[in-house]
Amino acid sequence: MTHVLLIGNGAREHAIAEAIRRSAQTPLLYSFMKTNNPGIASLSEKICLGRYDEPEAIVAFARDAGVAFAVVGPEDPLSHGVVDALTAAGIPAVGPTRSLARLETSKSFTRNLLEKYDIPGNPRFRNFTSLDGIDAFLGELDGIVLKPDGLTGGKGVLVQGDHFQTRAEALEHCRDILRIHPGVTVEEKLEGEEFSLQCLSDGRTVVPTPPVQDHKRRFVGDRGPNTGGMGSYSCADHLLPFLDADAVAEGLAITRKVAEAIRLETGIPYKGVLYGGFMLTRTGVKLIEYNARFGDPEAMNILPLLRTDFIDVCRAIIDGTLDRLDIVFEKKATVCKYIVPKGYGLPEDHPDASFESSRIVIGDVQTARLYYSSINQRSDGLYMTPSRAIGVVGIADALPEAERIAERAVAGVHGPVDHRPDIGTEPLIRKRIEHMKKLKAESI
Ligand code: AMP
Ligand code: GLY
Repeated sequence: MTHVLLIGNGAREHAIAEAIRRSAQTPLLYSFMKTNNPGIASLSEKICLGRYDEPEAIVAFARDAGVAFAVVGPEDPLSHGVVDALTAAGIPAVGPTRSLARLETSKSFTRNLLEKYDIPGNPRFRNFTSLDGIDAFLGELDGIVLKPDGLTGGKGVLVQGDHFQTRAEALEHCRDILRIHPGVTVEEKLEGEEFSLQCLSDGRTVVPTPPVQDHKRRFVGDRGPNTGGMGSYSCADHLLPFLDADAVAEGLAITRKVAEAIRLETGIPYKGVLYGGFMLTRTGVKLIEYNARFGDPEAMNILPLLRTDFIDVCRAIIDGTLDRLDIVFEKKATVCKYIVPKGYGLPEDHPDASFESSRIVIGDVQTARLYYSSINQRSDGLYMTPSRAIGVVGIADALPEAERIAERAVAGVHGPVDHRPDIGTEPLIRKRIEHMKKLKAESI
């Protein structure tokens, strides 16, 4: 019987755990988590609580469990060289080594790689390690985006119009960033609609999964601060309402070139998930960033649709045989909505920002899937932390029904919670389509 190690404690990993346990090969799951996720724990043979920056502890747990391979969920363990340590101990992993995970951890590395290998998709950009020349470059850009080098939990990017207004403010931000980070990437602000294309890579073959659109803003109508993601949707035709097959192919072509470029650059095949965050702009598909893992929430949109045995998928990634596996996703629409505590993602001075660890009660969620994120199980029930609590996923033949299923499930979860009722609804989708139409019309 196959023993599998899963590293991670979020809703994304709950979805991965479910995909592993759904395998016809009846694998046993061993889960290493930073904090206990009761959803993952309930699917696991054994769990171990520990830190993601201690690869030795993870390797020791993996050895004891006699796992055949590991699946790494979040970026933290990747950036701390957990895959390097596992590989050195003879345990293969679905997830890149630290050097390859630079695609996510270093914005400047990725931009330079695309430039060096002549891969399309970069906006205008320059990397800086000091203030020298920054002001002049800021003056050359119509819109400015600032990205600190290093992991920032998706919250370190500063966008003109959202986080600051003027060139002088941008320069001040660069000064602040360079005080705590080794570098800053200054780039052109792109305009368009974002989509996530999560691809599976064995180092040579890159297989796409259905594109997904995430919603980063905290409030209805894409207002409020950026969050880790409030929800996401995907469509039955494996496209998005504003995204045709040609645009998906453009994103995939970029990712295939990147997988090849990083192998040439490092001599190591990229084994794991290469998740491109793209923007469809009036001049085609541009790269916002790469992540070296599945998206959270986006994993919850695609893994429940996977019909191919996930253990076979993991083995093909590890063995370099993805080209021989037929990877099939059901032709269904999905809508994922995150249930969050009311104060989630709010600035400290906001009246609703305070947080009390409140109990939530899960009632009738009907046919929706539930994936636990930051939830504590106590003797008297489930309690929230200040982070996202539960991802609910509706799956149906078309988006409206998938959205209704997700909404009904949200209504079945009781407590001081909030969510974004607009995700996956017709008016918001229409807004996305109109936005793209307007941009394209302007470019003619
Ligand atoms: P990241 O941490 O790179 O995912 O950036 C967070 C968010 O910042 C993205 O989801 C985009 O909404 C926005 N962003 C990043 N880079 C750009 C860019 N060049 N132009 C416009 N928006 C961007
Ligand atoms: N959904 C955004 C992320 O996983 O980074």
